Order: sequence, then structure tokens, then C-alpha cells
Amino acid sequence: MQLDIWKKDNLDIRRINRKKSPKKGGSSDIDALKYLDELGVSIHTKAQPIKFAENVNEYIHRWAPYVQGFSAAFVQSKFDYYSKTYRSPSILDPFAGCGTVLVQAKLNGFKSYGTELNPLLHFIANVKLNSWGISPNYLKKIYNLLPKDKPAPAPNFLKSGKQFNKEVLPNLELLKGGIEELPSITEKQKKVKDLIKVAFSSILIDCSNLKRSPCLGYSNKKVYRTAPFDLLDQKINQIAYDLGLILSNFSDFIDTESIVYLANSMDFNHDHNFDLVITSPPYMNGMDYVMNYKIEMGWLGFAEKQEELKSIKNDMVVCDNVSKGLIRDFSSGNGKYTNEWIEEIKDDIASGIERRGNYRRMDMPNIVHKYFDDMFKVISKVYNSMSSNARFILVVGDSLIADVYVPTDLLIAKIGQDIGLHIERIEKARERRSGQVRSYKLRETIVTLYKE
Ligand SMILES: C[S@@+](CC[C@H](N)C(=O)[O-])C[C@H]1O[C@@H](n2cnc3c(N)ncnc32)[C@H](O)[C@@H]1O
Repeated sequence: MQLDIWKKDNLDIRRINRKKSPKKGGSSDIDALKYLDELGVSIHTKAQPIKFAENVNEYIHRWAPYVQGFSAAFVQSKFDYYSKTYRSPSILDPFAGCGTVLVQAKLNGFKSYGTELNPLLHFIANVKLNSWGISPNYLKKIYNLLPKDKPAPAPNFLKSGKQFNKEVLPNLELLKGGIEELPSITEKQKKVKDLIKVAFSSILIDCSNLKRSPCLGYSNKKVYRTAPFDLLDQKINQIAYDLGLILSNFSDFIDTESIVYLANSMDFNHDHNFDLVITSPPYMNGMDYVMNYKIEMGWLGFAEKQEELKSIKNDMVVCDNVSKGLIRDFSSGNGKYTNEWIEEIKDDIASGIERRGNYRRMDMPNIVHKYFDDMFKVISKVYNSMSSNARFILVVGDSLIADVYVPTDLLIAKIGQDIGLHIERIEKARERRSGQVRSYKLRETIVTLYKE
């Protein structure tokens, strides 16, 4: 036998099992060229403030500053850019999250609408939008009535004993029970109770043994016994400050209509037409928008068992944490959207997985296919409710999956074209690193589609 073929110079014994990715050192800008060529467009590089983290200092947005989506400053920049085209645009965000687009729209006096499938985020977004007439003093007056001697138990489907220190947990139970006791007979009382619930939800991770960066995981930070009370006081003060700001600066817009529907953007029919649709869909292969918020969902009563979380997740635009059964059913079903790019990418991913010998999800080609089928449904629904001359702006990142480049942004633009939209602009807002091959450069893109 010829053994020479296995002979390698400088074989590093510690790295013998690590296969080099053929994508090492590569970049999506190069890999995207063939797709751009086919679409007949090019990418403009224009750095933009799209990181959600920037919202932690922005009035109202900061009430529940979860890591996801994009920044209020980015949304405002799009409103400013189109201010001469639309005088008072009607706004839609089909993936409303905790309401960045809609809150910013309301601050401009624009009517805004959204859909969101996670009941916690839907609740938070609506509270941020619909408590604008409450006075800071009234919030504080009710907050000061909060009983601190009527505990309610921690959610029993979560591992609360591990997630919170034994000194912190009883204090959280006191706050949970106290909030449940607050009056909610009048509309105003209900609004204040909801504000306090939002404040409570936004302190939970801070006083836990967890961190979200961006996915939820354990951390070894030190958490103090009084943390829940102190943090809630601080949060209420912050919200009260912003309510005062609204009353003295934005009182004309208190009644401007802003609604987030607890609905699936793949099948929801709006009864309005929109001029500007601004959104950030879930990224392929990205965040699980249910498990990441399970703590807040459990403590606020939006889920009572794991199965409920799973079922909400399965209705969403797919992420790579969905149940295998859902993907099996999808792949055996009929009437799926596809195109030649998707088919080629699926084949390449299947070969990539075979070459690697193993992968986190062996059904990844079908997960990828389902992602684009889901997005096709959303874009079709949005298209139907766009006015003529409307824009559809999406912030989305591309992916590297099993060493295969997936031009998510360009595929979304292509799906838009198939449905009848025109590609107005594709901008690269920032560079990211691939989680799988750190030296591979991905991008985050702003795709602007236009309806004639
Ligand atoms: C990238 S986040 C958007 C964040 C938002 N821009 C913000 O600033 O909060 C995507 C959102 O889409 C939601 N989502 C996923 N699939 C959905 C669907 N089919 N219908 C409605 N919402 C969905 C997720 O729960 C998540 O909140």
C-alpha cells in the first residue's frame, strides 16, 4: 500500500482532529458576487447604527432593552431619509419585537402597526406604546402601594433555584405576589400595573445568575440580596422620568394609533395600507426568540410549561432550534416556495455536512429551505398591504452554514423581486464574524425594496 499519500509535513498532533474549513479567511462580499451579478445590483457600504444595544439609553426604548433587532437611531434615520417622500407615513413592522420601530414612529406622530408572536414581547411593545398619558406621579403613587408581604411562587417549570441565588429568589417572589395584588379595576390602574410588570420583567436577568449576550447562559456575576427591590425602584424611576418627558414634549401624539397584534406575520391580513415597512426578521441559524425570554415569560405568566414555549417557537420563522418533527413535516409537505439558488444551497449544505461527517442539525438543508419559505409567506403578506410607492426595508445578516455561504439578504431581495417588488438599494451596514469559522467575514445588510 502507498502510505505516502497520508504523509503530512508539520503535522500538529493537538490539531489532528480539527478539519480546516475551506471558508477560512474568506468573506461573504466575495462569495456574494455571483448572486449580485445575477440580480444585476451591487452592494453599497454605508455604516449605520443598527445595533439594538444602543437603545439602552434611549427614552421609552430603554424600559425593556432586550438584545435583538436594531436601534431607534437607525429607524429615525430612515424616517428622516424618506421625510420628503411621505409626509405622514403609515408604518408597519411585521416582526415587532419589543417595539423599536413603532415607538419611534409614535414619537414622530406616525400611525404604526406590527405583528409579534412572542406574547411577552407583544405585551412589552404594547405597554411602551399605550401608556403615554400616565403621569409619573400616578405611577409612583401606585408603585408605593405595592404589598411586600404576599409572595407568589416562582414559575415551577423553570429551574429558579439554579437561576437565582437563595437570597434573591424569595424577594422576587414577594415582588411577583405584590404586583398580582395591585388594583386593576380602572383602565388607568391596569396601565400602571402593566408598566410595573414591564419594569419587573426587565430586572429579572440582572438579578439572576444568567446573562444574555445575546443568548441566555449562566454567568458567575455576583448578585446581591436586595437587588430585586433596588433594581425595580431604579427602573420605576426611569419609566416615571420618561412618562414626564412624554407628557411635556409629545402630548400631541398620545392618541396616535399604534397597535401590535399578537399574530403570525406569515398569515396575518392587515386592514390598513402602509407606506414604510421597516423590520428586522429573525436571522437564519440565529437566535431562538422564545427560549431566550423564557425567564420573563415564566415570571410574568406568559408560559406555564415548556411545551407552551415549544409550540410558540414552532409557529415562528424557523430557527435552528426547532423540533425535528416540524422540519420532517415541512420536507414531506407540498407547495413550498423554492428557486434555483435555494436548491443549489441545499445540495451544497448536504455535501458540506457529509464532508464534515457530523453537524449540529443533520436536517439543516431543510431548515434553510423552511426559513426562505417562511420569509416568502411574510413578504407576500406585506406586499399585499403596501401602498403603491411604498418601501420595505429589512435589516438582515447573511450566514455560513456547514461551510456553505448563504446570501440571506440577497435571497430575500430575490424573493421580493419574485413577488413583484423592485430592489431599490442594498447597503452593507457592518461586518460580522461567522460563529462557525471565525476568520470568515459576514455582513449585516439593509435591503430596501420598492413597490411601484
Ligand atoms: C430580530 S427580532 C425583531 C426585533 C425588533 N426589531 C425590536 O427592536 O425589538 C425578530 C422578531 O420576530 C418575531 N417573530 C418571529 N417569527 C414571527 C412570526 N412568524 N410572526 C410574528 N413575529 C415573529 C420574534 O419573536 C422576534 O421578536
